[in-house]
Amino acid sequence: MKAITSRKYGSADVLKLEEVDKPEPKEGEVLIRVSAAAVNAGDYHVMRGDPYLIRIMGYGLRRPKHLIPGQDVAGVVEAVGADVTRLRVGDEVFGYCQGAFAEHVCVPETQLRPRPAHLTLEQAATLPVAGLTALHALRDKGEVKPGQKVLVIGASGGVGTFTVQLAKAYGAEVGAVCSTRNVENARSLGADHVIDYTTEDFAAGDTRYDVIVRIAGDRTVGQCRSVLTPRGTLVIVGGGSYGRWLGGMERFLGTALLNVFTRQRLRPFVSMCNGEDLRSLAEFVAEHAIEPLLDRRYPLAQTAEAIRYVEEGHAQGKVVITL
Ligand SMILES: NC(=O)c1ccc[n+]([C@@H]2O[C@H](COP(=O)([O-])OP(=O)(O)OC[C@H]3O[C@@H](n4cnc5c(N)ncnc54)[C@H](OP(=O)(O)O)[C@@H]3O)[C@@H](O)[C@H]2O)c1
Repeated sequence: MKAITSRKYGSADVLKLEEVDKPEPKEGEVLIRVSAAAVNAGDYHVMRGDPYLIRIMGYGLRRPKHLIPGQDVAGVVEAVGADVTRLRVGDEVFGYCQGAFAEHVCVPETQLRPRPAHLTLEQAATLPVAGLTALHALRDKGEVKPGQKVLVIGASGGVGTFTVQLAKAYGAEVGAVCSTRNVENARSLGADHVIDYTTEDFAAGDTRYDVIVRIAGDRTVGQCRSVLTPRGTLVIVGGGSYGRWLGGMERFLGTALLNVFTRQRLRPFVSMCNGEDLRSLAEFVAEHAIEPLLDRRYPLAQTAEAIRYVEEGHAQGKVVITL
């Protein structure tokens, strides 16, 4: 089968289109014929081995541990391994995996859900990593309640577009921070107020937020805290300073310390995908509470270009590889 391979750390130039062996499903796994695979920021971090911390966290010290990148997948079940009980050949599914940038990938059935009825496979592929990050940020870290004021900084990218919609689904009043060309998009996703960061500074405004989700941008924890209510929660998904060694993980230590001195809750986190939450996400989709926003599509052979585009940091929703 054809697959994108990553044999050493580096820029998108390290990614090659190669012929590799088609995998065979092990116990509990299904073989998927891939229809679409979404690109995430995590893909270029793993490709570059940057921040270095991820190398010691199991991605490979000197070279990438996994030959084929890609985590978000949607496609058709082509074969099932032993002890697979829920899925059958021919089922259309989406989920998270290792090795989505390929014609086929084997995935544990627990990491897959049926394609939501009203979404295409392309749209379904955009859901897992970005959608689950948004869900974890709002539900678990932000503990968002109806009527609360939520500010989403970086509202127009992959994670942000799901965060705005989910915050509305949780009954929040939502402010969205994005650039001029994304203002209309943010409104159409349900944002009650849109702050164009090219002309306005949210940190200089009078509004106080119960929950702020910082996904992108260069606003510091202190600047975000200045517009948080006295007992508000700052959820840190991304943004702020970025170090090559720790990639901002030092925030965990810094904010843990700050949490001792303030009633505000400061919550940096790394989202971990799981099957149960994928089911919850699919329920929001079934209720039409969230709808993927597709930016660009690329064929498998142009995966490197797709990743370069996402690396620029100005995607409008999600970017997908289509097969
Ligand atoms: N903690 C976790 O578990 C987790 C999980 C997933 C992702 N992340 C991190 O979250 C970040 C975003 O991921 P993503 O997938 O949403 O990225 P993305 O799809 O590339 O989107 C980035 C967005 O940031 C916006 N942006 C850039 N500068 C901004 C600014 N100054 N103020 C407000 N918005 C700004 C861009 O919009 P404009 O074009 O309008 O500037 C763009 O839409 C990445 O750093 C990623 O590593 C963390």
